[in-house]
Amino acid sequence: RPRVLSGIQPTAGSFHLGNYLGAVRQWVALQETHDAFYMVVDLHAITVPQDPKELRANTRLAAAQLLAAGLDPERCTLFVQSHVPEHAQLAWVMNCLTGFGEASRMTQFKDKSARQGADRASVGLFTYPILQVADILLYQANEVPVGEDQRQHIELTRDLAERFNGRFGPTFTLPKPYILKETAKIYDLQDPSIKMSKSASTPKGLINLLDEPKATAKKVRSAVTDTDTVIRFDPETKPGVSNLLSVYSTLTGTAVAELEQKYEGKGYGALKTDLAEVMVDFATPFRERTRSYLDDPETLDAILAKGAEKARAVAAETLAQTYARVGFLPAK
Ligand code: TYM
Repeated sequence: RPRVLSGIQPTAGSFHLGNYLGAVRQWVALQETHDAFYMVVDLHAITVPQDPKELRANTRLAAAQLLAAGLDPERCTLFVQSHVPEHAQLAWVMNCLTGFGEASRMTQFKDKSARQGADRASVGLFTYPILQVADILLYQANEVPVGEDQRQHIELTRDLAERFNGRFGPTFTLPKPYILKETAKIYDLQDPSIKMSKSASTPKGLINLLDEPKATAKKVRSAVTDTDTVIRFDPETKPGVSNLLSVYSTLTGTAVAELEQKYEGKGYGALKTDLAEVMVDFATPFRERTRSYLDDPETLDAILAKGAEKARAVAAETLAQTYARVGFLPAK
């Protein structure tokens, strides 16, 4: 079986619709066909200031949401990044292989540090993509299911893997991004020119999966569209409507062309009302399942402990090979 690996930050509390459609949904599907490793990336979360209590709670909450979304610990390896110390260890080696200029070109760092004020951004935020490189290479992942915003980090992963292999001999698998076109980038409901995100979206533009159903329905019904009236998929001239169609299509498994037909001659109101219902029908059982996993933290922690053990077995082997190749004296 080919291997996949991916991660999600626990920072935000509730997952948003972009996280789910862009990434987590694919994780669930890939556990059936791939040897799958999925993690909650708490080491990445501390690249910006974190409250310890909240981080702990949000790490459990993220794991609960992944299980609620359909990850099955019998079919995949689900773990918390800090439970596997090899991530930080391999990241150090990768840091020493990365050019300063190369790291400076990472667009997500540029965006995030600009938002915080460049002087206040941590060195950890700067080296964030290199920790992600280590995450991926440790598991010799063939594919990495993510949204479009992570593509550059996977390219960096390939570059560093190639550099290491060239310098020290074949060690790492070169991973490919696994990005589905239809859901690569889910847009903000109020401003369909930007991606939906916790940091940039306004509350009205952001669908949190754990929101009250009423609030979710309202956000969908007040989504920004355009002054035209035709329901047609055309991201260039009709970004708002196209975004709604993508979401609708993915959540219901109906082709976009079929939806265009269904809504021919109908107004945007009808589309939004129906999509609001689709969203609520999806989110309601998701919230309930999340809550039931949270109600039983012992079972949740046991799942994560088992996941960490499975992950470590793979990670330790890769790290040992890497250390040997680099020339570290083995500890006797
Ligand atoms: P994070 O936590 O920001 O987001 C988790 C996943 O959600 C995707 N995503 C979106 N997809 C489509 N449309 C959107 N509007 C949208 N917003 C978010 C992201 O692309 C991501 O796949 N650096 C990563 C976490 C990470 C990781 C890794 C990923 C750490 N190590 C190793 C893969 C492999 C991140 O911050 O994702």
